[in-house]
Amino acid sequence: MHSFAYKNGSLHCENVNLADIAAAVGTPVFVYSRKTISDDLAEFRSSMAGLDAHIAYAVKACSNKAILNLMARQGAGFDIVSGGELWRVINAGGDPTQCTYAGVAKTEPEIRYALEQKIYCFNCESENELREINRIAGEMGVKAPVAVRVNPHVDAHTHKYITTGTNENKFGVDITRIESVYATIAAEMPNLHIKGLQIHIGSQLTEVQPFTTAVEKMLPIVKKFIAMYGIEFFSIGGGIGIVYDGCLESGKPEWWAAHPEQITIKSYADALIPLLKPLGIKILLEPGRRLVGNAAALLTTCIYEKKGEAKTFKMIDAGMNDIIRPALYEGYHEIWPVKEHCGDEIVADIVGPICESGDFQAQNRRIADVKPGEVLAELSAGAYGFSMASTYNSRPLAAEVLVDGDKWSIIRRRQTLEQMVQDECLPE
Ligand code: LLP
Repeated sequence: MHSFAYKNGSLHCENVNLADIAAAVGTPVFVYSRKTISDDLAEFRSSMAGLDAHIAYAVKACSNKAILNLMARQGAGFDIVSGGELWRVINAGGDPTQCTYAGVAKTEPEIRYALEQKIYCFNCESENELREINRIAGEMGVKAPVAVRVNPHVDAHTHKYITTGTNENKFGVDITRIESVYATIAAEMPNLHIKGLQIHIGSQLTEVQPFTTAVEKMLPIVKKFIAMYGIEFFSIGGGIGIVYDGCLESGKPEWWAAHPEQITIKSYADALIPLLKPLGIKILLEPGRRLVGNAAALLTTCIYEKKGEAKTFKMIDAGMNDIIRPALYEGYHEIWPVKEHCGDEIVADIVGPICESGDFQAQNRRIADVKPGEVLAELSAGAYGFSMASTYNSRPLAAEVLVDGDKWSIIRRRQTLEQMVQDECLPE
């Protein structure tokens, strides 16, 4: 499940002491476990073995070139949402013909680029987008492979900013209109090739039931479209949640036994395979978070401590610019000292250096009484961590490291101040 554990009083990733990485590279630094990513990808594959299932890793979760290269070498395809992500995949050694392209506002240059690269399919989100792709494909003298993302009106029971399958969201075409939209494509858009159908109802789902509800709603339409248009795939999107709270325990079978409600790759597969297998077509899966989320920790150093009237604050050198999830989604991440502590816990807010009250990584958290200079590991930071980072407050982007057994490599050098401003210039 993940590869972070204490050994000889110090937190390790696989067989590497995180204290050594922090000393060599400095903090903040994201540290990824190659083993966790490979194991989770393999588990997805084996759990879905009963289907003609293909994994299209959602690049947005973590788009470092080394991670994409690892996915590509292990046979994954990619779910992309911009021309930039397509470029990254190709640059990392991925195969553009294994890419599906989602997103509500694809531009003409992006559509042309994706057609030139012969991507597997566009997952389209509106009728106007379909018309635009039809026009561009016509100009280029090619047929564009398309699927439409359906909004099935299913509540994913997740944070409001990452729920996507209800009629209040900007995503997809309403399930009540999908048949007429496919009929319009067939009748009026000769440069499109109808290839599939797609859904994605949200992210960080911790129950299986919304997935089964959505798939059950879609089955009659998928069957009809197989018969009418010969569609060759049904994509059920991504969204499988990970354990953030209690992450360190999550690798242990007894933890799972005590949390039977928690989604696993196996419970997801067991519920969905019987529904999907009778379709007899290719099933695409677009996991992002589940493949990389628990695979990384963000190492950060405690800089100061402040005891206020109401609270104790531990100030760290990682801010909301490095990992924005707590500020944006009320995200919870376990925070553990790299040097193991025994019994000296306090309740504190773990806050960053940014000039915003929202710049915290944890509030009112029971945590070891770490002292300035000590290194902390913010766990489950692999998905939507670095990929959402910015240089806000003129803080250069953090470094990234990949651990493999007892070895580790830098997979992104820490940004320098010069690099941070290199594209800025004074007016003529
Ligand atoms: N497919 C589509 C069409 C998506 O929009 C997404 C994620 C995925 C697949 C992958 O979903 P996953 O398996 O990672 O849940 N920044 C937020 C999450 C945003 C998810 C956006 N779409 C967070 O940090 O929680």
